[in-house]
Amino acid sequence: MTESDILEAQTNAQRARTAPRHVALIMDGNGRWAAKRGLPRFEGHRRGVEALRRTVRAAIKLNIGYLTVYSFSAENWSRPREEVESLLTLLHRFIRNDLAELHASNVRVRVIGARADLAPDISDLLREAEQMTQANSGLTLVVAFNYGARQEIAAAARALAEMVAQGRLRPEEIDADAIARRLDTADIPDPDLIIRTSGEQRLSNFLLWQAAYAEFVFLPILWPDFDEAALSAAIAEYAHRDRRFGGLEAAARSAKTAS
Ligand code: FPP
Repeated sequence: MTESDILEAQTNAQRARTAPRHVALIMDGNGRWAAKRGLPRFEGHRRGVEALRRTVRAAIKLNIGYLTVYSFSAENWSRPREEVESLLTLLHRFIRNDLAELHASNVRVRVIGARADLAPDISDLLREAEQMTQANSGLTLVVAFNYGARQEIAAAARALAEMVAQGRLRPEEIDADAIARRLDTADIPDPDLIIRTSGEQRLSNFLLWQAAYAEFVFLPILWPDFDEAALSAAIAEYAHRDRRFGGLEAAARSAKTAS
């Protein structure tokens, strides 16, 4: 590590201590929200999209650089066909109805997850959202769709193995950076804060690599009830955490600098 690498890491750590640059969300609890009200699961997901809309607006207001949302996991295809279709319909509607507002708000949309097997209407839609907003410089909204972290890491490993097989890379050149550069998130900073709603406390195959130094906030509320106040409260909790990135805690760090 050069001196400038160390300085950059310290600056990042300092910034990350106060305000998260990248917040990632596991939007969980739509089904339970609907069940509690005797409503169909679709209604929970529909209200989930409204919560997502509110949250994007709040993230812009709070000056968050990157917001990643787990909208559909690689494992969600195993849900009943009717529910999968309703989630796909909601994604369609979200992009169709909200893309103009997102674009006008200077939001850059990025999509992570496997694209190869998606129906053309969906992959066209995702591409359109990315292309239309690619030059925007405000919030980057990363939509994780058909996303699975293990699959993402396996794809990166496969790409590196192919390069080795072709003689374009030596195995000893494979380090953490080489893998990170081949993930869907290659040009996206790691999340500082990961929030999961609904009281569950697990990652469920979300950003496993990128979460190495993330802070976690697990909220008991169900996703359709999430709002700006909940986001602000999670960020306030984050601001109290001492992020060490494998180094020293803040007090020990300043004592060391002073001596
Ligand atoms: C988890 O709730 C949520 C999902 C599986 C998907 C998240 C989707 C949305 C917020 C709406 C769709 C948004 C887009 C952009 C497609 P759950 O169904 O697992 O809830 P449960 O655990 O209470 O059953």
